[in-house]
Amino acid sequence: MDENEVIKQIIETIRKDIVSDKKFIMSILAKIELTEDNIPSKLILSLMNKLNAQGQVRMPVSNKPKDFAGTKASKPISVGDGSIESKIVSDLLDGNNVYLMGKAGTGKTYLAETIAEYVMGQPVFMVNCSQWTSPIEIRGGQTIKGYEEGQLIKAWAEGGILILDELPKLDPNTAGLLNAALAKTGSNPVYDEKGDIIESTVPYITNGRGDKIYKGQDAKDKDLRFRFCVIATGNTDMINVGNKYGGNQRQDYSLVDRFAGSFYVINNDPIKEMQLTYPYVFNLCNAMRKYLESKDALQSISLRTMLNFNRTFEQEMLYKIESPFADEIFNNSGEKIAPKTIEDSVNSFLNMLEKNMRDDLDNDQEFRSAKSERAKTQAEDDFRSHFMKKYHLNPRNGDSLTEKEITELDK
Ligand SMILES: Nc1ncnc2c1ncn2[C@@H]1O[C@H](COP(=O)(O)OP(=O)(O)OP(=O)(O)O)[C@@H](O)[C@H]1O
Ligand SMILES: [Mg+2]
Repeated sequence: MDENEVIKQIIETIRKDIVSDKKFIMSILAKIELTEDNIPSKLILSLMNKLNAQGQVRMPVSNKPKDFAGTKASKPISVGDGSIESKIVSDLLDGNNVYLMGKAGTGKTYLAETIAEYVMGQPVFMVNCSQWTSPIEIRGGQTIKGYEEGQLIKAWAEGGILILDELPKLDPNTAGLLNAALAKTGSNPVYDEKGDIIESTVPYITNGRGDKIYKGQDAKDKDLRFRFCVIATGNTDMINVGNKYGGNQRQDYSLVDRFAGSFYVINNDPIKEMQLTYPYVFNLCNAMRKYLESKDALQSISLRTMLNFNRTFEQEMLYKIESPFADEIFNNSGEKIAPKTIEDSVNSFLNMLEKNMRDDLDNDQEFRSAKSERAKTQAEDDFRSHFMKKYHLNPRNGDSLTEKEITELDK
């Protein structure tokens, strides 16, 4: 460790000790008259937070009821006939390794997790792949805490589902460790005439200690014993690196081959996006997306960006109508202040573009009309009914809607 690092660590330790000593802080604060001029407001907030002080400066409050703030689909996703989801589920049940390929923020990880958690009903294991992902995380190995089992081995042994998020970012040599297991995802043992498993034919792989691990040997539910399956996600086809995303590596074809036939391209899905966002936000984002795509720009509007804009727009509207669901933000004098607006979000996005592109977009007819005063006024008028349709809650008073009101809305 170099000298600077040692000094940094000492200072950090002292800082932690001081901050955790409430009496010490109290004695300092007693001598100082706190005013906005002599102490930064951020420090006041953080000290008061540490001391659990109450009453003076109010901290932000979120009033969102659980359902409203939900981050995940509360219901299992519907697996429609012929849908991508239904094909993925068939693949997983058949023992085919699934690969979801698509641009950033299109919902690949969400889809993999939702299918794993809500549809398959198996234990889920996840590896967030990068060039730094170590073989230990995959196959297991010695760490300072002793031997730790890898995610691949756990999923294999417990009849689980393994999610390899951002697989193309894995170092190709590390990725090679997956090959043995991924070749045997669909392999089952041989049964004798009585229908019993011939144990010597149960497939196995070896872990980081060299132990043989038999498929499903630790499965709690014996019906899941041979259900080990794999979903991987990534921005590339694993063979080409592409120029839009950093960190992806060219993978050996032996790995790519293990997903052949079960590659799914996850594109932007305007129907899904329209369901998840307010029309004003969708139109605005869609106009920006069309423009950026026409210029083959590096920046793009993903579902993630749309949802970000959507949350901001929703809060802006809730604040306007003084809804109990509005997040409460206070300034240092304890007064409630307005939240960020959708205009702030759009401007922040535009700032990422080169100046000529920004100017060009500002003159784009569709974009101008999507963000016009008229469109915004319309959005404000429609907000209440859209909110009620989405959450079945009245944004003005926070009440749940009655069955009758819900039926009326759906008409
Ligand atoms: N069907 C859906 N319903 C609600 N939210 C969704 C849905 N699909 C995706 N999301 C949300 O959209 C955002 C982007 O999704 P996700 O992180 O899965 O994208 P990704 O394709 O994995 O992106 P990246 O390539 O950057 O990893 C997330 O906040 C996720 O929760
Ligand atoms: Mg992802």
